[in-house]
Amino acid sequence: MSTARKPIIAANWKMNQNHLEAIQLTQKLTYAFERADFEKVEVVLCPPFTDIRSLQTLIDADKLDFKLGAQHCYFEESGAFTGEIAPSMLAKLSCSYVIVGHSERRELFGESDEWVNKKAKAILKAGMTPIVCVGETLEEREAGNTNQKIAAQTVAAFEGISKDAVGKCVIAYEPIWAIGTGRTATPEDANSAIGHIRATVAQFAGDGAAQAVRIQYGGSVKSGNASVLMEQPEIDGALVGGASLDADEFVRIVRYHS
Ligand code: PGA
Repeated sequence: MSTARKPIIAANWKMNQNHLEAIQLTQKLTYAFERADFEKVEVVLCPPFTDIRSLQTLIDADKLDFKLGAQHCYFEESGAFTGEIAPSMLAKLSCSYVIVGHSERRELFGESDEWVNKKAKAILKAGMTPIVCVGETLEEREAGNTNQKIAAQTVAAFEGISKDAVGKCVIAYEPIWAIGTGRTATPEDANSAIGHIRATVAQFAGDGAAQAVRIQYGGSVKSGNASVLMEQPEIDGALVGGASLDADEFVRIVRYHS
């Protein structure tokens, strides 16, 4: 991890935790964390939509240091889009981040590169930060196409976005074969892929943006592998799925340096 970029560790609860469970889990985390933890690491909670209002209230009332994120949104501002949520609705709930292009959304819900780009723009326009997910399948990795795939996804996601704005975004490198499988990329492989993403950002947005953009690793991150991953110079944090549902485990991950 570079000292110039503050690490960002985000909990992606996926479709888990109703709003009552979410309040409980957040309270458990609150008791365990200390202010010093948030000085070292930015901690983001990304619950399901139905929990966001409850967590916003809790965070406001108790002046907690967690940032709030959503797992998804639509790119239009309003209109006849049954079931969708506009970025401005999330901004109004004090969300700072929105995950876009997660492989589950790409694979199960047909989210294309074009949509990822439209969403990233809409999220920025609403004053929030996209966490743009990119990653290769096992077949792509075995065929030696990892760099090509993640570079293409990165270029497509940021098309038409200003260099300044690119530098403020977050990217999550998540090899699809490592998500929820217990298989993690080796720290060296993750570092090399993330280095390639950073080099790609430098090509279209310049060195300033490439040095500023924070790039997380995601895919079976646990307390046992968090520190070796985060010690890598290119890795600026983690997007944590399964392990973020266990308060003690998530706290250990955020304290990877201690
Ligand atoms: P995992 O999920 O930590 O359960 O592998 C990561 C993610 O999908 O963001």
